[in-house]
Amino acid sequence: MQQILAKLEAMRGAARLGGGERRIEGQHAKGKLTARERIELLLDRNSFEEWDMFVEHRCADFGMGEQKVPGDGVVIGHGTVNGRLVFIFSQDFTVFGGSLSEAHAEKICKIMDQALRVGAPVIGLNDSGGARIQEGVASLGGYAEVFQRNVLASGVVPQISLIMGPCAGGAVYSPAMTDFIFMVKDSSYMFVTGPDVVKTVTHEIVTAEELGGAVSHTTRSGVADLACENDVEALLQLRRFIDFLPSSNREKPPVRPTADPVDRIEPSLDTLVPVNPNKPYDMKELILKVIDEGDFFEIQSDYARNIIVGFGRMNGTTVGFVANQPMVLAGCLDIQSAIKAARFVRFCDAFNIPIVTFVDVPGFLPGTAQEYGGIIKHGAKLLFAYGEATVPKVTVITRKAYGGAYDVMASKHLRGDVNYAWPSAEIAVMGPKGAVEIIFRGDIGDPAKIEARTEEYRQKFANPFVAGSRGYIDDVILPQGTRRRLCRALAMLKNKQLENPWKKHDNIPL
Ligand code: HXC
Repeated sequence: MQQILAKLEAMRGAARLGGGERRIEGQHAKGKLTARERIELLLDRNSFEEWDMFVEHRCADFGMGEQKVPGDGVVIGHGTVNGRLVFIFSQDFTVFGGSLSEAHAEKICKIMDQALRVGAPVIGLNDSGGARIQEGVASLGGYAEVFQRNVLASGVVPQISLIMGPCAGGAVYSPAMTDFIFMVKDSSYMFVTGPDVVKTVTHEIVTAEELGGAVSHTTRSGVADLACENDVEALLQLRRFIDFLPSSNREKPPVRPTADPVDRIEPSLDTLVPVNPNKPYDMKELILKVIDEGDFFEIQSDYARNIIVGFGRMNGTTVGFVANQPMVLAGCLDIQSAIKAARFVRFCDAFNIPIVTFVDVPGFLPGTAQEYGGIIKHGAKLLFAYGEATVPKVTVITRKAYGGAYDVMASKHLRGDVNYAWPSAEIAVMGPKGAVEIIFRGDIGDPAKIEARTEEYRQKFANPFVAGSRGYIDDVILPQGTRRRLCRALAMLKNKQLENPWKKHDNIPL
C-alpha cells in the first residue's frame, strides 16, 4: 500500500509539473500563467476535482514513445464559481506546446459529455500550438470530436472560451462555435493562417498580434467578445460573467438578491434625450441607471458600437439588454450591428434570459457598402432572432423608431410582450424632413411651405400617440420611472409560456 501511495504521489507530482520547471519559467516569462494556476484563480478555492491526470498519448512515431507526460497537455475536471458547478479544460502549453493529441481531445470530450448530462457550463482555457504534429490524422479526428460536441452543446449549456495563448488553424473553430470568446491582449492570438502564410499568399506583412490579437478581434472582426489586459483580469472577468448565466437551458437565470429598490426613480433620465432630435446622447447611461447597482457586463463593447448588448440584472434576475446607441452612426442598424445583436438575442432566448430593448433607431444604414455587403440578409438576422424569441421581451422606445428598424427592434408585432415609449418617442415610417421631401416633392422650391409641411408631419407622426392609439405601444411612460415599470413588466412575465411551431430547426438567413 505504502508503495502504491508513494507511486501515486510521484505520478501526481509529475503531472503537476507538466513540461517541467524550465518551460514553466518560459510560460511565466511571457506573462502567462500555467494551466493549473489559471484553474486555481478561476474556481472557488479547493473546489477543483481533476480527472484524467494519468492519461498519456499513444503515439510511438518520431520518438514520442519515450516522451510521455501524465495528463498529456490538458488539465480537465469540474469545480465551482461562486458555488455554481462548471466544467473546465485548461491546455498546458508547457507540454508539447499544449498541442492536441487524440488522448488530449478525448479528455476534453469527456468533460463536455458530462457537462451536457448534468447541465453545467463548459469553460475552455485555450493555449495550444494546434494539432499534435507527430500524431497527424489522429489529432485531426480529435479536433472533429470536440467540434461535434460544441455543436451538440450549443444552446444546451453555455460554452465560454478564454484564448490565453496561440489558437491557430482549424483549432480556431472550436472556440468559434462556443457562445463567448474572451482574449488576453499581447499573449493570445487566433487566426486561420498565420503571418508567414499570409505573406506568401497575399504579400501582406502583418504581425501575429495585428492579424489575430485581442484588439483586432474585438474591434475589427467581431470574433471575440472581450479583450483583457492579462490572464488574471481575464479569469476574474469570467468569474463575474458566469454569475449572470443560467447553468443550462433547463434553468431560469440565476437570481442575486439586491439592495437596489425596484421603484428607484431616476429624475436625470427625464433630460437624457436632448430637445434637438438630431443631437446624440449616450444610451449606455440609460442602461446603467435602470439596472441593479449599475452592474453591466457589456459584450463586444468596441465592435459595432452603434448597438449595445450585454447583461445586467433587474430586481436580482439576469436580463439581456439590447440598445441602439445614438452616439455612433446615429444609432443606425448596419450589417455588423445586426449580426452582433442577433447572436446575442439568440443566446438569451436559448438560455431563458428575458430581453429588454431600448430603441432609438433612425433606420438601416444606406449605401453601396451595406447593400453589396448583404444588409438585406444580415439585417434579417436580427428580425428573425427577435421574431423567434419566446423569452419575455420588454421594449422601450426612447426617441426614433423609424421604418423597418421600428419593426425589427422587438416591436409589438414581433411578439413584444410589453412595449413602452417615452414621451419623446417618434414612431414613423421615416423622419419628418425625409417624409415631406418625398410626399411634397413639388413644394421643394418653397422652403416656407416645406417647413410648414414638416411641422405638420411632426405633429402627426413624430410622437408616440399614433402607435399608442393602435395599441402598438402599451403605455407612454415617464423616463424617470423606467426602472420601476421594467421591473414590474418583468415580474409579470416571470412565468410566460410561449412555444413556436414544431420544426427540426429554423432556417435563419445565415
Ligand atoms: C507538437 C508542438 C506543436 C504542435 C508546438 N509544439 N506546437 N508539438 N505539435 N503543433 C512544441 C514545440 O515543439 C516546443 O517543444 C513547444 O511546443 C513550444 O513550442 P515553441 O515553438 O518553442 O514555442 P513558441 O516559440 O512560443 O511558438 C509557439 C507556436 C509554435 C507559434 C505555437 O510552436 C508553432 O508554430 N507551432 C506549430 C503550430 C502549427 O502549425 N500547428 C498545427 C496547425 S494546424 P519543446 O520540446 O521544444 O518545448 C492545426 C490543424 C487543426 O492545428 C485542424 C483542426 C481541424
